[in-house]
Amino acid sequence: MFTEQDMQHSQLKSEEIPSGDNIPEHVAIIMDGNGRWAKARGLPRIAGHHNGMKAIKRITKAADRAGVKVLTLYAFSTENWKRPKAEVEFLMKLPQEFLSLELGELIENNVQVKMMGNRDLLPDHTLSAIEEAIRQTANNTGLILNFALNYGSRLEMVESAKLLARKVAAGQLDPETIGEAEFEQGLLSSGLPDPDLLIRTSGELRLSNFMLWQLAYSEFWFTEVYWPEFSDQHLYDAIREYQQRARRYGGL
Ligand code: FPP
Repeated sequence: MFTEQDMQHSQLKSEEIPSGDNIPEHVAIIMDGNGRWAKARGLPRIAGHHNGMKAIKRITKAADRAGVKVLTLYAFSTENWKRPKAEVEFLMKLPQEFLSLELGELIENNVQVKMMGNRDLLPDHTLSAIEEAIRQTANNTGLILNFALNYGSRLEMVESAKLLARKVAAGQLDPETIGEAEFEQGLLSSGLPDPDLLIRTSGELRLSNFMLWQLAYSEFWFTEVYWPEFSDQHLYDAIREYQQRARRYGGL
């Protein structure tokens, strides 16, 4: 059945989808405001997360349609464990629900599912759903849908530093040869390009421990809109604004 957003989407004219050769290759999104979206409607917070899950489907399709190659979504941070147990449990069920509903279509659309985050603390049912999706989409060559799940950027960098330190201690690595590329190899995003465009919804203006290394030269785009109501048009507005910006990487 079509949702309201699908209907809106189907009415989009082709000229409303960004075009040109400077479509951001990698878009990363901090999906924020699920709780406030629900509260504004007198609904429990989990209803916000559930509608946030529906937005993931919509935005994955929209990103793919615009020619984005990698879409990274911050779904659960290493700090989110501090939330009430029932909310954490609900959030941990969403990957399973999302993939049981959408994996078929993701496969049809040639999407590759990936995950970056610490796997150790994830419940078995969450991890096995994700691992199964990764396995079934491993040979796909289309959009990379990368879930940041139990992800924290500082922890990721500490782990990369430890990896290098271990190699030095084992006599396998000369510290003088360590450069950005060597450090980057130990990050969970290794192999992916850095995000070109970072989007955060819900009016918050901070990074919340998200991809601190990888966002060094990314363009940022913020919106007051809560994640569950983030639409194709919002994504396309962000991309169009990105296309107007001059990225200088510290040069002139
Ligand atoms: C932030 O909103 C959102 C989260 C911590 C969870 C994001 C998760 C989803 C959108 C769904 C995940 C689904 C899959 C398939 C991985 P908030 O709760 O902090 O909102 P608030 O700031 O308004 O309280």
